[in-house]
Amino acid sequence: MSDATLLSVEGLVKEFPGHTSLADWVRRRPAPPVRAVDGISFELRPGEVLALVGESGCGKTTTGNLLMGLLPPTAGRVMLDGQEVGELSGRGLQRLRRRVQMVFQDPYESLNPRMRVGDIVAEPLRVHRVASSPADLRDRVARALTSAGLAPPEAYVHRFPFEMSGGQRQRVVIAAALALEPSLLVADEPVSMLDVSIRAEILNLLSALAKEQGIGVVMITHDLSTIAAYADRIAVMYLGRIVEHGPTRQVLTDPQHPYARALLSVVPVPDPSVRRTPVILSGETPDPSRIPPGCRFHPRCPVAFDRCPHVDPQLVEVGEDHQAACLLLGDGTGRATPNSEGEVPESAG
Ligand SMILES: Nc1ncnc2c1ncn2[C@@H]1O[C@H](COP(=O)(O)OP(=O)(O)O)[C@@H](O)[C@H]1O
Ligand SMILES: [Mg+2]
Repeated sequence: MSDATLLSVEGLVKEFPGHTSLADWVRRRPAPPVRAVDGISFELRPGEVLALVGESGCGKTTTGNLLMGLLPPTAGRVMLDGQEVGELSGRGLQRLRRRVQMVFQDPYESLNPRMRVGDIVAEPLRVHRVASSPADLRDRVARALTSAGLAPPEAYVHRFPFEMSGGQRQRVVIAAALALEPSLLVADEPVSMLDVSIRAEILNLLSALAKEQGIGVVMITHDLSTIAAYADRIAVMYLGRIVEHGPTRQVLTDPQHPYARALLSVVPVPDPSVRRTPVILSGETPDPSRIPPGCRFHPRCPVAFDRCPHVDPQLVEVGEDHQAACLLLGDGTGRATPNSEGEVPESAG
C-alpha cells in the first residue's frame, strides 16, 4: 500500500430539490431540499478498501455517484490524484471516467443480455478508444477477464450472460470495469443480489484486486456483517454524515458512536468471549429532507441526553486514526476531551 493519497473527499454536500407535499403546495411553501450527503470527508490510498456502511437512504449511492463525477456536488469537492473531479470537462472528464469505475449491484441488469462476454468487456475500451490495434484489444480483454477470475478467457469470451452463473456474471461486470485499468473502483452493494454462498468469492476478488493491483476500492453496503472482513477501514454513515470512521478492527471491536454500536450489535463476532446484546433502534426511519436539529441521531439514540437536540457533534479522535461524532465523546466540537465532570478544561481549547 502506498502512502500517496489516491482519493480525497472534502466537505462533500449533495442536495436534491425536495418533492412538494400537498400541504406545502396549499401553503405555497417551497419543498425542503433533500440533503442526501451533508458534509463528508475521507481519504483513500491506492490498494486500500474502504467500506461505506449505513442503512438505506443514508446517502451511500449519492456519495458513489459524486465520486464518479456523475453528479455535481452542492458543496465540497472530490479530488482524484490531486485533481478536482467536478472541475473537469471534455478530455479531462473522459480521462477521469477511465480512472474511476463502478461495479453495480445487479449483474443481471448491468449486462446487456444480447452481447457476448468478450464484447461486453471490450465495449469500454472501444468507447474510450484505448486499444491500439485489434490484437491489443483482445489482449486487454483477456487480461481483464483473467484478473476477474474468468480464466482461461477463451472459455468465456463467446458466452452470453444467460449462460453464466450469478457469480460469473458479477465477475464479467468487474472485468468490464477493470478493462480500463482504473485506479479507483466504487462497488455499490456489489453482492447484495448474489447468492449468499458466492458473496465471499466476489468480495475476496475485490480485495485481492486492491492488494495486487493497487486499486483503491470503496465498497458501499447496508450490510456490514458481509463486507467487514474485506475492508481495511469502515466509515459508518447516518443521514448523510460519516458518524464514525476508523480501521476495521477498531470499529468492529470497539465502536464508539451509539449508531455504530447498534449496527454492530447485530453483527456476529468470531471471538466467543465477546458477547453483544442486540440494540434495536426505535423511532422513525430518518428523512433527509427533515434532518433533526443538533445531533441528527438523537431521536433514535438510546443514550441521548439534554444537549443532543442542540449541538451538532463533529468527528473527534477516539483512537489512532479512529474518529466518531457524539457529544459523549470529547466535547462534541472536535476540540477537547471533557474531564470526569463533563467539563472542558480551560487550557484544552
Ligand atoms: N435524484 C434524486 N432526487 C431526489 N432525491 C434523491 C435523488 N437521489 C437520491 N435521493 C434521496 O437521497 C437520499 C439518499 O439516497 P441514496 O444515496 O440512494 O441512499 P442509499 O444508497 O444509502 O440508500 C434518499 O432520501 C433518496 O430518496
Ligand atoms: Mg444505495
